[in-house]
Amino acid sequence: MCYAIPGRVVEFHGSLAVVDYFGERRTARNELDDLRVGDYIYAQGGYVIQSLPEPAALEILQTWKETFFELQDRDWRLTRLAGERSGASRETAALLDRVLAGRPPEAGELLRLLRLESVPDLDLLFKTANFLRQKHLGNSCCVHGVLEISNVCGEGCGYCGLSRHNRSLVRERLGPEAVVKAAVDAVARFGFKALVLQGGEDPGLPVDALCRLVAEIKRRVPVLIFISFGEVGPKGLERLYAAGARGLLMRFETGDPRLYARLHPGNDLRTRLEHLEAAVRLGYLLITGGLIGLPGQTDESLVQDLFLARSLHAEMYSFGPFLPHPGTPLAGSLAPDPLQVRKVLALARLVDPENAKLLVTTAFETLDPEARRLGLMSGANSVMLNITPESFRPSYDLYPRRAHDAESLPEQIEETLALLRSLGRAPTDLGAGMEATA
Ligand code: 5AD
Repeated sequence: MCYAIPGRVVEFHGSLAVVDYFGERRTARNELDDLRVGDYIYAQGGYVIQSLPEPAALEILQTWKETFFELQDRDWRLTRLAGERSGASRETAALLDRVLAGRPPEAGELLRLLRLESVPDLDLLFKTANFLRQKHLGNSCCVHGVLEISNVCGEGCGYCGLSRHNRSLVRERLGPEAVVKAAVDAVARFGFKALVLQGGEDPGLPVDALCRLVAEIKRRVPVLIFISFGEVGPKGLERLYAAGARGLLMRFETGDPRLYARLHPGNDLRTRLEHLEAAVRLGYLLITGGLIGLPGQTDESLVQDLFLARSLHAEMYSFGPFLPHPGTPLAGSLAPDPLQVRKVLALARLVDPENAKLLVTTAFETLDPEARRLGLMSGANSVMLNITPESFRPSYDLYPRRAHDAESLPEQIEETLALLRSLGRAPTDLGAGMEATA
C-alpha cells in the first residue's frame, strides 16, 4: 500500500511532474518514459511509479471522491486545538505556542517536554503534535508493507533476537521464488505501492542476490522498494539503486557513540552514519531512527537522536521501543514505559513538523495494544504491515510476542483501514512530505 489514489499530471518541471488530486497539487519525480500531461498516475514516496488508463482512474476517483472529503473533514474535527490550553501549565502552553508559531524547539525545551508528567500538559503536547501533522501534511497516512526474507545474521547487536547471540534460533531464509511471489501478491492483489525488503546481514544473501530480487520484483509490478539489510556498503547501495531500489530503511539505533559501540561490538556509529549519508547522496529515500529505552540511554541522547534523524534528511522517522529478548545479553533489561514512546513520537513531530513521515512501529504496538491510535493522534502518520508469509514470521524473532504475527494480511489490512477511517486518515501517499506546488 500506501493505497495511493490516482492523480492527474497537469504539468512538468523537468523530471518533476505536477500532479492534481481533487484540486490539491503535489509534485512527484518521473522516471517513466512516455508520461504526458493529462495522464493519470500513482505516485509514491515522491516518485511516479505507474500510469493507468483514464477510465480506470476515473472509476477509482469516483468512488473515492466523497470519502476523500469526508475523511479530511473527520480528521480536521478530531484535530482542532481550540480551547485545549486549559489545565496545562503556563510554561508548557507558552513553549508549545512558540512551536506552533514556527519557532523550532531547542534541545533544552524538548528535554523539558520529554520529562512532562502532568496529564493536561501531556495532552496538550500530543494535541499540538497532531495539529502540526494535520496542518503540514494533511490526512494522508503511509501504509508500507514489510517483507522479511532472512533471519540469518552474523552481527552481535546486543538487543536483537536475530543477532548471533541467539543460539536457539533456527536460521533460515525464503527462497527467491517465495520472496518475489509475496512481493508481487502484496502489490497486485492487495494494492501495496511501497514495500520494504528486510533481512539480517546474511552472508548467504550477497548484494548480487538482493539486486536480482529487487530487479525481478520491479519487472513484475510497479512498486517503490526500500531495502533493509543492514550495512551493504557504498558500492552495494549503488548497485541496489541501479537494480531499482529507491529507499533505504536503516536505523542508526542510537546516536550516542559510546552506547552504540557497547551495543554493537566491532562496529562504530561513524560508519553507520556514513552509510546513511552515502545513501541520501545516491538519491535513496531514507527511513531511519533509533531505539527508545535502551539500557544506559539518557533523555538527552534521545532528544539528540531526533535532531540526528532530521540532519540525515530522513524521509520517514522510525523510532520504537527497545523490547528485551531472552536470547540476548539485554535479556534482563526492562522495556520503556509506552508513554515515553508516545512522547518521543510527539517530539519528532515538533522537530520536523513539515516533512516527517512518522512511523508507529510494530515494536510500539507490541508494547501497547493502543499504540497505533495513540501514535497517530500524537503526530505520527505512517504504519507498516507485515506481508511476510505467515509460516516464516515466527522465525523473524527480533523481540518476543510481536504484534500482528498471527494475523493474515487481509485481516491486518481490514483492521488498519478501519482504524484509519475512524480517525479520518486517507491510506494514501499524496506526495505528502513534498512541497505542494499550489
Ligand atoms: N526491540 C526492539 N527493536 C528491535 N530491533 C532489533 N531488536 C529489537 C528489540 N529487541 C529493531 C532494530 C533494527 C530493526 C530491524 O529491529 O532497531 O534496526
